[in-house]
Amino acid sequence: MIEADGKLELTGLEAGYGESMILRDVSLKVEPGQVVCLMGRNGVGKTTLMKTIMGLIKPKKGTIRYAGHDYTSRSPDRRARAGIGYVPQGRDIFPQLTVEQNLLLGLEAASAKVRKAGIPESVYEKFPVLKEMLYRKGGDLSGGQQQQLSIARALVSEPKLLLLDEPMEGIQPSIVLDIERVIESIKDDKQMAVLLVEQSLTFATSIADYCYVLDKGTIVAEGSSDTLSEEQVRRHLAV
Ligand SMILES: Nc1ncnc2c1ncn2[C@@H]1O[C@H](COP(=O)(O)OP(=O)(O)OP(=O)(O)O)[C@@H](O)[C@H]1O
Ligand SMILES: [Mg+2]
Repeated sequence: MIEADGKLELTGLEAGYGESMILRDVSLKVEPGQVVCLMGRNGVGKTTLMKTIMGLIKPKKGTIRYAGHDYTSRSPDRRARAGIGYVPQGRDIFPQLTVEQNLLLGLEAASAKVRKAGIPESVYEKFPVLKEMLYRKGGDLSGGQQQQLSIARALVSEPKLLLLDEPMEGIQPSIVLDIERVIESIKDDKQMAVLLVEQSLTFATSIADYCYVLDKGTIVAEGSSDTLSEEQVRRHLAV
């Protein structure tokens, strides 16, 4: 792994929709191979931050550095090709396309080298259920399976940095466990950095190397899982 591979560094980000600024002065770091969690109540700007990192929202202020370069004004497409994988909140797969077609779309975002090699076998190892359902329509899968497909589609391009926005939201417990195991295996492989938006404090603190808590668009607490006290986090997460 190159030293800066997957490294993300946000400094003083300000972003929002039209005139309404959501994020204020957000600075955050993800080191190569790390799992970093972003927590916070509903509506505080977690998804807005993920979209800004992916380039879907243009920041008014601040910088986004990725893999040692300034990506602040690069297109989402260039970010994807440079190895940023994005799993949006709410599993937006293509319901009319088969599982395999959905996965092939993930390849479109990949570097030329990965595209040529096709869907990596490692994706099916992580999600065996998808291999069994390759020719089924995405829309016929259960909600949890669609979420797995959405994550698999991002993994197909072999990203160096994976952005996961609430992958466990509204999913049946058995599949939650499967997805947690996949995130753990990604962490063990150490080939990919992960920025995970997660509401479960238990899972977040068990998996994360470092956590940030966002409130009203600003980072209000941060620390490694053992230094960031549960009380501190709970205070900001409580409604
Ligand atoms: N497309 C949009 N246009 C205008 N405002 C938006 C848009 N999307 C989100 N917002 C507003 O931005 C704020 C932050 O929303 P965001 O989706 O980033 O929060 P979140 O922390 O991801 O919430 P949740 O936990 O519910 O997913 C909210 O007040 C929301 O209403
Ligand atoms: Mg959100």
